[in-house]
Amino acid sequence: MKIALVGGTGDIGTGFAVRFMPSHEVIIGSRKADKAQESVRGIMQLPGADGNVWGTDNASAVAAAEVVILCVPPEHLRSVTYDLSSSFDKQLVISPVVPLSYDGKLFRFNPPPEGSSAQQAQSLLPPQIKVVSAFHTVPAASLQAQDRELRGDVLICGDDAGAVEVVRGLTLEIKSLRPLFAGPLTASSLVESLTPMLLNVARRNRIKDAGVSIISERPPALK
Ligand SMILES: NC(=O)c1ccc[n+]([C@@H]2O[C@H](COP(=O)([O-])OP(=O)(O)OC[C@H]3O[C@@H](n4cnc5c(N)ncnc54)[C@H](OP(=O)(O)O)[C@@H]3O)[C@@H](O)[C@H]2O)c1
Repeated sequence: MKIALVGGTGDIGTGFAVRFMPSHEVIIGSRKADKAQESVRGIMQLPGADGNVWGTDNASAVAAAEVVILCVPPEHLRSVTYDLSSSFDKQLVISPVVPLSYDGKLFRFNPPPEGSSAQQAQSLLPPQIKVVSAFHTVPAASLQAQDRELRGDVLICGDDAGAVEVVRGLTLEIKSLRPLFAGPLTASSLVESLTPMLLNVARRNRIKDAGVSIISERPPALK
């Protein structure tokens, strides 16, 4: 697939690029095409980096892609999505965006009026675009370490079964993440709100690169 990373010059964008470029065409998007190209040079120097990656401005990245991952800070999601909406045609959009705030002591869930960042993106994009919410609890540093085996779960929300299936497939490509369906897009606020909780716990207990995992004495077999 052709996967565009809007704001892909940042931490999580670099992580997705490292993980997806061996099997897909990854397009790093940026507000500035030359920053995206500089980012590509940096990615190719990371240990184990290999594959197909190039950089351009966000609008060109979206227009060239089948899948778009929104890798921008929550406070800029509205303007970025709105500005790019004419570049979308029928791409599948993945939102890992976590609307949180930090007051120096506590991370808090700070959702937009739409209820969650994923719903905000869906409300600003053309109606045919399917937004799937995923990857909120996967740390960028873990994704960037190409040979690191991740053991967490990825909770996925979406209204379209086919689109959710594509995101399940992408999740399974990252060793050994487990995709779990968490419900329709309206359930995304529940998933997005896990990240500030996770960061508070991790900080107070000195846990690095924390993730989430749903435990059971009798886990279901992966399909
Ligand atoms: N970091 C993590 O571990 C992690 C984990 C799970 C989910 N997430 C979510 O992923 C998203 C990105 O996180 P990140 O840590 O990668 O963020 P980041 O590194 O702070 O920023 C990502 C990119 O956003 C672009 N950007 C910054 N300000 C902007 C503005 N005013 N308008 C448009 N674009 C702007 C920049 O790209 P250009 O300057 O090149 O345009 C920047 O490189 C966030 O919503 C976060 O909640 C992050």
